[in-house]
Amino acid sequence: MAEQKNILSETKDGILYLTINREPKLNALNFSTLEELKNIFNEVNDNKAIRGVIITGAGEKAFVAGADINEISELNELNARKFAEFGQEVFEIIESCHKPVIAVVNGYALGGGCELAIACHMRIATANAKFGQPEVNLGIIPGYGGTQRLTHLIGRTKATEILMTGDMLDVDEARTLGLLNHVEATKDLAIARAEEILKKIMSKAPLSIGMIVDCVNAVYASDENGYQIEANSFARCVKSEDYREGTKAFLEKRKPNFKGE
Ligand code: COA
Repeated sequence: MAEQKNILSETKDGILYLTINREPKLNALNFSTLEELKNIFNEVNDNKAIRGVIITGAGEKAFVAGADINEISELNELNARKFAEFGQEVFEIIESCHKPVIAVVNGYALGGGCELAIACHMRIATANAKFGQPEVNLGIIPGYGGTQRLTHLIGRTKATEILMTGDMLDVDEARTLGLLNHVEATKDLAIARAEEILKKIMSKAPLSIGMIVDCVNAVYASDENGYQIEANSFARCVKSEDYREGTKAFLEKRKPNFKGE
């Protein structure tokens, strides 16, 4: 993994640990951090040594406190559209990654930070996490897919309230709304829980995991027929070595040895 300026990365036992590392600015996502995320996830998809990803924010106070307001304050209509489209593109790459991506949300996940967390496949929050889309306080709206993904995740009723009021949710509210997979007291415990989930997923057939991502994402794509995609993906699975290995191992009463082929 090439060295990045704003994101720390380390691969250990098949897991890529990414830390958004702008702690003095509460890990706000400036343009170059978004570009780094895009480069990293393009590599994740191609790199067989990476089997899962954990994204967190540096320090204890924030996951990501939003897009960088210094950059937002100087937009015009033309580059604002490009700004939103680029963020949407990067978060779409994360959402459609064929390796599981878990956000460990430690503190504020606001604006683009909340949008980043909900573009990940799962979210594990620390007890001090706070979620919100405060863009209405700045005279803008979410631009990195937040209006769409938040509504898909928690439904129109509460999403509309959160988007219109800019109110922050604590972990109890976020969990009740179905925004979170788990809550842990500290960041270390949240990372340990994410590792436990990823290790379990990494013991399964990798091609199946990628196809589950495609099928679940198809639910939310208005131009896709999810049932068709499911049937096609199912058929592609049976062409794989791992399908032969998985079924054979069951019948031979042993653990499968999956190769992602
Ligand atoms: N963009 C750029 N800088 C940001 C930022 C953002 N989204 N969020 C926080 N920062 C910076 C602050 O400007 C401050 O920098 P400084 O020390 O150079 O002045 C530093 O991070 C610490 O933030 P501060 O506001 O002093 O911390 P706080 O504990 O008082 O408040 C928040 C924390 C998260 C409530 C507050 O920072 C905030 O409201 N941030 C903006 C959230 C937002 O609107 N996000 C959506 C953007 S589209």
